[in-house]
Amino acid sequence: MAEPLLRIEALHAGYGEVRVLWGVDAQVDEGNIVCIVGSNGAGKTTLLRTISGIVRATSGRILFRGEDITRLSADQILARGIAHVPEARRLFRGLSVKDNLILGAYLRRDTAAIRRDLDFVYTLFPILRERQSQDATTMSGGEQQMCAIGRGIMSRPKLLMIDELSLGLAPRLVERLSQTLIEINKAGLAILIVEQDVMTAFEIAEHGFVIETGRVEMRGTTKVLAENPAIRQAYLGM
Ligand SMILES: Nc1ncnc2c1ncn2[C@@H]1O[C@H](COP(=O)(O)OP(=O)(O)O)[C@@H](O)[C@H]1O
Ligand SMILES: [Mg+2]
Repeated sequence: MAEPLLRIEALHAGYGEVRVLWGVDAQVDEGNIVCIVGSNGAGKTTLLRTISGIVRATSGRILFRGEDITRLSADQILARGIAHVPEARRLFRGLSVKDNLILGAYLRRDTAAIRRDLDFVYTLFPILRERQSQDATTMSGGEQQMCAIGRGIMSRPKLLMIDELSLGLAPRLVERLSQTLIEINKAGLAILIVEQDVMTAFEIAEHGFVIETGRVEMRGTTKVLAENPAIRQAYLGM
């Protein structure tokens, strides 16, 4: 069997004395859209932050395209091809939409390709082209999410990780963003989304992991997970 794009093995991590992840095993295969769902405080954000090198693993391994990236710096991990769209978007205040997008490419030197990718982002999200000179943090929540996703794409990742795609956004907008992500995925980019809104996550992703108090409690295709009575009761309110 082919090596998965991302493999997480028995991962433990936390903040100082506070242990958050207790032996997480998960994976993302090449070309897939995968979701990680779970309640508030389950450790989803911590997992993404550990993958992208912001939080240090205390034990376990993270392999990306077969390489052990567990001890690499955040910049090295970004350079390997993992982009992280953080919770709450975190755009830079005082910088234009265009400058926020260009910052996503700060490790790259291929100027012509950067310009082409900027154009690709503007094609995905035409509103960003219209707003390119505006302070990014003055846009609506949905536009800021587009800008944050665009900034992630500007690093030319092989894996795009998005923390809480739908948080605070109107359902119609979430639907639109979801369609765009599916489009981006079809162009060959693997996507890992973290969501408290399980319904939305299951609509986008083919595979899912359910995480509770820092442990993966269930995994499988989202089709099968969505039919699981425990999941329906706990997360889908059915
Ligand atoms: N910087 C931090 N310092 C200490 N504890 C934290 C920090 N960030 C998160 N936590 C704790 O880690 C746990 C998991 O949080 P988080 O990963 O943000 O969960 P989720 O994204 O699933 O809501 C929570 O109990 C939270 O209080
Ligand atoms: Mg979170």
